[in-house]
Amino acid sequence: MAYFRNRFVQRIVVLTGAGISAESGVPTFRDKDGLWEKHDPMDIATPEAFARDPALVYRFYNERRNKLSSVQPNLAHTALAQLQSHFPGEVFLVTQNVDDLHERGGSEQVCHMHGQLQAMLCTACNSSSPATVDYNSISVCPACTSRGTLRPDVVWFGEIPYFIEEIETQLASCDLFIAIGTSGLVYPAAGFVQHARLCGATTVEINREISDVTELFHHQRQGLATIEVPGLVRELLQQA
Ligand code: OAD
Repeated sequence: MAYFRNRFVQRIVVLTGAGISAESGVPTFRDKDGLWEKHDPMDIATPEAFARDPALVYRFYNERRNKLSSVQPNLAHTALAQLQSHFPGEVFLVTQNVDDLHERGGSEQVCHMHGQLQAMLCTACNSSSPATVDYNSISVCPACTSRGTLRPDVVWFGEIPYFIEEIETQLASCDLFIAIGTSGLVYPAAGFVQHARLCGATTVEINREISDVTELFHHQRQGLATIEVPGLVRELLQQA
């Protein structure tokens, strides 16, 4: 339990977006030079795009996956892992990110609501398997040996994110909701602040700039994730 802004906090939900990995060198989607500046998301991140031009979609995700080996977790990832291991209450970490920087930063529990770059999903047997090589339209599923049925195990526009029921349960029972580095433009994650707030949580946003949902939060800390996240974590652990 911690004392934060005039209330006792026992359960924390943290939502992260692309902004937390930006300072590690992973491009965001909608900032200058972001991924959606170079590509139309409707050409890449939809089931229809995959059906239309699978080679383009495989290439996009193969390249992003390959780049993971050249980036490292930053102080914001490691601070959240510290919070998870030292906070005397519960800390539920949900991320829209498909990278593995939370895990490499030391987090043991990470809920990847938009899936993971390092997994492939078989549309024939529905099993998810670790992504170990580059994939294409003739790759074979290691579980059922079907050929040409593997797709990136990421959630595309028009698909339902993973773990939604569990996330909603966590939002309904948390005392503190923290959103870090997310533009608040993509639902359902953009609606989590309202959900948590309606259920009584104090809400804090950390973002380099004003986001689309800033005004819905009780508190906003404007600045870089690598500065603001360790600061907030220190505050929470000091009061614990
Ligand atoms: P966006 O690219 O939409 O937003 C990134 C946010 O991070 C922006 O609000 C930036 O101001 C902020 N930001 C950038 N650098 C930062 C830093 N160093 N410190 C703090 N904040 C920083 O990324 P998301 O909100 O994560 O989904 O995007 C949500 C979803 O849209 C993604 O999961 C992806 C995308 O389309 C799918 O592909 C389905």
